[in-house]
Amino acid sequence: MTAPLRPHRRFLLAALPAGILASGCKGQAQEPPLASLSVPPLKMVAPFPVGVCVSTGNFEDPTLLPLILQNFSQFTAEWQMKMETILKDDGSFAFAEPDRIVDFAGENGVRMHAHTLIWYAQKPAAFERIDGNKTAFQNAYRNYIAAVAGRYRGRVVSWDVVNEPVADEGGVLRECLWSKNLGQLGYMIDAYHLAREADDQALLFLNDYWLEKRPEKRRAFLHLAEQLLKSGAPLQGLGSQTHLDIGLEPGSVKAAIKDIASLGLPIHLSELDVSTRFTRFDGEGDGQKATRQSRLVHETVEAFMALPERQRFAITNWGVRDSDSWMQRPPNPPGVNKPLLFDAEGRPKPAAAAFVAAATGR
Ligand code: XIL
Repeated sequence: MTAPLRPHRRFLLAALPAGILASGCKGQAQEPPLASLSVPPLKMVAPFPVGVCVSTGNFEDPTLLPLILQNFSQFTAEWQMKMETILKDDGSFAFAEPDRIVDFAGENGVRMHAHTLIWYAQKPAAFERIDGNKTAFQNAYRNYIAAVAGRYRGRVVSWDVVNEPVADEGGVLRECLWSKNLGQLGYMIDAYHLAREADDQALLFLNDYWLEKRPEKRRAFLHLAEQLLKSGAPLQGLGSQTHLDIGLEPGSVKAAIKDIASLGLPIHLSELDVSTRFTRFDGEGDGQKATRQSRLVHETVEAFMALPERQRFAITNWGVRDSDSWMQRPPNPPGVNKPLLFDAEGRPKPAAAAFVAAATGR
């Protein structure tokens, strides 16, 4: 890893909105002067890779692209490396979109994290057709992972092999097309071995969400990771999506990151955003919400920085500008939620300054 540039102290002080580091949330927070925020490029100051999710359309966007290239050193495809894009109904593969993303990353010296091979939420017709036919299902599963992970061997540094296997409640694993046909632990163990056979270099991750919001889910996630390791599956990293909201109790992100890191594996905070909606703070003004968001971002990055360096895989943001977030998509009203580090005009928000402050030890 190349040494990060140390930003000039005056620069950082100017970038830090008043009150971000103050403890407690009582009283009227001051509206931070958005327009005057000056934040250095995230990737230049953070001593770890700073990621962002992208889609091919972003590369044609003259306003967004410079922001992406200036600030981020790692890409995750937002959806174009998922089965929904790659696997066609007739069982054939479509690689044009993921190829474009992986090529673009390579051409621009950006590290590529691949997302995702097996996800309960994907139910492709090509697999549903063979639901219940054990041999056909096993073959198609093997074939898919071999083809996709094999194609990007040497061009991606890591894969989310299994995504979101833990149920939101009850500390149990989700029932899904994959568990039904290949066994609850079996589909995961197979996926890790198949990914390893296809790509002997990529770091293989297990990824899930709400690990800070639901301690019971976190326990189930860690228990699963231990079971996979015990079985001999080549699981090598843990991804915590880190979809937060401003209603989270202070301290819960820190506790989660410490806990998840206790197995000693590299940690990827893989889809960071902080929703400003649907909490007890909905009645507050934008400035107060921005301050709450900044505190959470600060807590997150600070907790990540507290990990041993070898465990800091990356922090990936799930979008650049508020207007790019998946939280703007239907049925959500556009423009109301402001979950990301840059505003709709591409200006760094207080949360971006908080990211930089924590990443530089302030
Ligand atoms: C989301 C994307 O942001 C959306 O554009 C897409 O329609 C659905 O998926 N957890 C994940 C991500 O692992 O892949 C999801 O991304 C967000 C939740």
